[in-house]
Amino acid sequence: TKYWVVANMDENDQQAIEEAATLLKQHEVVAFPTETVYGLGADATNQEAVARIFTAKGRPSDNPLIVHVAHPEQIERYVTEITPLAEKLINAFMPGPITVILPSNGKIAENVTAGLDTIGVRIPDHIVARTLLEKLDLPVAAPSANTSGKPSPTSAIHVYQDLNGKIAGIVDGGPTGVGVESTVVDCTGDLPVILRPGGITQEQIEQVTGIMSVDTTISEQIDQPKAPGMKYNHYEPDAPLWLIDGDETFFQNQIDALTKEGKKVGIMVSQELAMKLDASNVKILGSQDDLKTIAYSLYETLRAFKKTDVDIILSETFIKQGLGQAIMNRLEKAASQKVSP
Ligand code: TXA
Ligand code: MG
Repeated sequence: TKYWVVANMDENDQQAIEEAATLLKQHEVVAFPTETVYGLGADATNQEAVARIFTAKGRPSDNPLIVHVAHPEQIERYVTEITPLAEKLINAFMPGPITVILPSNGKIAENVTAGLDTIGVRIPDHIVARTLLEKLDLPVAAPSANTSGKPSPTSAIHVYQDLNGKIAGIVDGGPTGVGVESTVVDCTGDLPVILRPGGITQEQIEQVTGIMSVDTTISEQIDQPKAPGMKYNHYEPDAPLWLIDGDETFFQNQIDALTKEGKKVGIMVSQELAMKLDASNVKILGSQDDLKTIAYSLYETLRAFKKTDVDIILSETFIKQGLGQAIMNRLEKAASQKVSP
């Protein structure tokens, strides 16, 4: 696996991105930074190239991939129609952490869309991703660059740990910004349907479209049997994760009970809650008043607990508003159970 460090977009960096683009043109897969998480890219018009993504990640083939382009005009090349709804979201939020689902015109390789007649497209807001996409002038299919089921990669070292030896290259552009993936919005109808909460919030989408959006993820409960398509594990840390949905006394009781059973307990909480708890292995996500920082540190923290150090991880829950929707969506998928008073 080739590894390029790209820091300031000088001539050397341009050369590195050129080399990555060349590998992608040769139908190899290459990981690159975006503003959300690292993506594992392949030429979205080539079945063989796209197949390599699924192999490297161990990803089930019925989960469709997002297509990345550099400019809004490129979106038109792959869809039958830019709906009025999509137009509003593209104008307001692209480049940025949002993916629009539109009817496909069939020019994208079939294994990108997992046989669906729609495609998800986004324009990443990251200088390295944009430069790579511009040099290529090809649509790039890119899921998060992690082994399927693990937390998504927010720095190149995570990609290296998961995929070294399995992919042609990694472009290291430093840590990503948002830290959770793009918001996936179905724009094929009149109402925006949020299929996955992410970096652009439901509130932002409603403000721009003037319509109440439907969030399909709100009704998803972790203790309910998973719907088809939701059947795969996601974002799983090394040790089981429990969400503790109570106050500090309840949280402390959980720590004490597990410790008494001889369990090594890891804690991931806000700095506010950390100050009130008595525990030995605490990782702080950020302040409760700063969901951006919590989103940014979420996957890194999930990855930081190793099963050699902890038997179980306990996490705080957060308010499901703004970025909190994406944070809680990922935590609920990562967790094996939720414990409430
Ligand atoms: O921020 C992101 O979106 C990152 C970076 C790398 O761009 N990518 C990412 O890709 O998160 P991935 O493959 O991990 O997640 C893609 C999501 C999945 O939930 C998939 O089901 C949904 O997008 N998706 C893709 N195409 C779709 C389609 N045509 N219809 C419905 N959902 C689709
Ligand atoms: Mg992913």
